[in-house]
Amino acid sequence: MKGIILAGGRGTRLYPITRAVSKQLLPVNDKPLIYYPLSALMLADITDILVISTPEDLPQLRRLLGDGGQWGLRLSYAEQAEPNGIAEAFLIGADHIGDGPVTLVLGDNIFHGHDFQEILRNAVATVDGCTLFGYPVSDPERYGIAETDAAGRLVSIEEKPRKPRTNRAVVGLYVYDNAVVDIAKNLRPSARGELEITDVNLAYLRRGRARLVDFGRGYAWFDAGTPESLFEAGQYFRLLERRQGVQVACLEEIAWRRGFIDADACRRLGEELAASPYGRYVLSVVDGGWL
Ligand code: G1P
Repeated sequence: MKGIILAGGRGTRLYPITRAVSKQLLPVNDKPLIYYPLSALMLADITDILVISTPEDLPQLRRLLGDGGQWGLRLSYAEQAEPNGIAEAFLIGADHIGDGPVTLVLGDNIFHGHDFQEILRNAVATVDGCTLFGYPVSDPERYGIAETDAAGRLVSIEEKPRKPRTNRAVVGLYVYDNAVVDIAKNLRPSARGELEITDVNLAYLRRGRARLVDFGRGYAWFDAGTPESLFEAGQYFRLLERRQGVQVACLEEIAWRRGFIDADACRRLGEELAASPYGRYVLSVVDGGWL
């Protein structure tokens, strides 16, 4: 299973901050936003990952993440020259995807919940058509919105509907079989001139090959593309960390616990960062943390 992180866009909803800095590099609590979607892929054992971003932002992302070898990952990079829509990721990433399945995560999406990793791992292991994930929201006009029938089968998806039929958002995490590349190649731009991810999902739905898995109560999902959601996400993770002493999206910890790197490598990474609370956390975990 290959992974793609789409970290493109101009981040206009966060202006003026994002005039000079990539949205995905902004801090959420004590780490860059992109650590969260990257950690989601790592938790599902997806280690071969293409990071797509704008020509301006790619050099900084590369400086932060490198080739991923330090975490036992294989990271590569590609440009999205213009904000032509989420589904363009499958055209830009066609070579990376090759003839296998792919999981796409949006660079500003954050997931947290008790068995999140089991749910994603299960979707990845059983990929057949596409698996989408739903989450109840209070502002459904902002998202792709899914409707299911009484048996829980997906019946419609609408992108940012004026009159939403449900409050179930389709989050920015998508598991696809290899048909996604051909589907993306045959898409036409929407009225706003973009290759829409919702149109990809509708193509799967028409073929009867789309399913929705719900993240219900007990999960947190943030689309951290606005000042409010960025701030709220930071508060949420700060609170969790202070209560439990446990970090979310600590890449060194995940790499070590998933067996991508050994304890010595993890300790060395922690030592490099030891001036920060993040680095000290890495060291405490690898040297016999409580969990
Ligand atoms: C995009 C998708 C939308 C999805 C959302 C999740 O919207 O188009 O279907 O629900 O991501 O974050 P955007 O945030 O790019 O407006």
